Amino acid sequence: MELTGILSILSLLTPLATATAMLPALMARNTTIPTVDSDSVEGDRSYKAPYFPLMGFKKYSGNPIMRPNPANEWESAYTYNPTAIVIDDVVWLLYRAQNEAKTSTIGLAWSRDGYNFTRYERPVLGPTEPYERDGGCEDPRVIRVNGTFYMTYTGFDGKTARLCMATSTDLVNWTKYGPILPNVNDVEYNWGTHVNQYRPRTGWSKSGSILNERMPDGTYHMIFGDQLLYRATSKDLLTWDYRVDSLPFAPKLNDWEQGIMESGPPAIKTRGGRWLQVYNGMAVGQGGYRPKQYSTGQMLLDPVERPNGPPIARLEVPILQPSSKDELEGQVDDVVFTEALVQFHGQWFMYFGQSDTSIGVAVAPVQD
Ligand SMILES: *[C@@H]1O[C@H](CO)[C@@H](O)[C@H](O)[C@H]1NC(C)=O
Ligand SMILES: *[C@@H]1O[C@H](CO)[C@@H](O)[C@H](O)[C@H]1NC(C)=O
Ligand SMILES: *[C@@H]1O[C@H](CO)[C@@H](O)[C@H](O)[C@H]1NC(C)=O
Ligand SMILES: *[C@@H]1O[C@H](CO)[C@@H](O)[C@H](O)[C@H]1NC(C)=O
Repeated sequence: MELTGILSILSLLTPLATATAMLPALMARNTTIPTVDSDSVEGDRSYKAPYFPLMGFKKYSGNPIMRPNPANEWESAYTYNPTAIVIDDVVWLLYRAQNEAKTSTIGLAWSRDGYNFTRYERPVLGPTEPYERDGGCEDPRVIRVNGTFYMTYTGFDGKTARLCMATSTDLVNWTKYGPILPNVNDVEYNWGTHVNQYRPRTGWSKSGSILNERMPDGTYHMIFGDQLLYRATSKDLLTWDYRVDSLPFAPKLNDWEQGIMESGPPAIKTRGGRWLQVYNGMAVGQGGYRPKQYSTGQMLLDPVERPNGPPIARLEVPILQPSSKDELEGQVDDVVFTEALVQFHGQWFMYFGQSDTSIGVAVAPVQD
């Protein structure tokens, strides 16, 4: 209390620089955004590819690392479901923000330690197009290929969710390419029945996780879907093909994923040359998992040997489940939802939405 008093008196009398030099413990955080351009370098300096499964995640005791910010109208109600990428030794988060009207925009934040984030003052993506009006821009997932960031996000018009693409070279200035999978026919879980049943759905698409390397067949692969997982392919990352009669890429297997399977962060290439896909699942109440409980799990993909699935392997139990108050109670109760996994300073950082309200992180050691 006394120190706060001193600071406010000092800041009246002296320029801020002098005040902070006199009181280093209270120094304001550097809020200048680091410059990212096509020469910027992606990834941790001592990066070591993972092998499957990647275990040992512990939730950070200081969670949530990000809460809604009442000072900014656009992120005043909820901040959650971030994607992450390491550029020039900085962890960057693109996160979903909502105001009181629940309009979604995408915010940007950066950190030099993986825990403490500084936020950019305005959203980097917001609703401008008809397919985004009345809902907004949701749930980003980002990769970088040849110096360009490719971000999938959901454009929601209040009725239909459409998976969209935007690109950037600096993380701030984004160019929109519109909906990329306009003709998806899939199914959705039908809660109205006593047995697990699905009803058909048309034109709805969400949650695109792209593998950031061209496959030997000349295409990039994307695992997408928010009820069941499917695969789409692309030659240029901007236009995507999806066979409307496709079978799901990964059938439901585990108790915790019986309601919904939804893609997670962009898959990461393993030491053995396969791909580790973290994904999300919602339970229906069987096997000890609560109805509508969202958890995070892992599967191993081989896009060369099994391009149409199913996964080579899958963990039977989640690596992350809701347990803290912030994860159990919020805009949507009982949710951890993961779209971000990066290696940084010798650890894995997995960022996740907590009950569609705030952001937490879980950390695991890098495997030897
Ligand atoms: C603040 O951060 C910017 C961007 O990283 C950097 O260029 C600048 O030197 C930093 N300023 C201070 C005082 O550390
Ligand atoms: C984050 O910053 C706060 C305040 O500056 C500090 O107390 C805390 O230790 C930092 N957390 C980490 C993990 O460094
Ligand atoms: C944003 O990116 C577009 C496309 O690359 C470019 O034409 C435009 O000049 C950029 N605007 C700013 C403010 O950097
Ligand atoms: C990225 O660069 C590689 C190597 O030049 C090239 O094969 C690939 O087509 C490029 N990808 C995109 C999306 O431009």
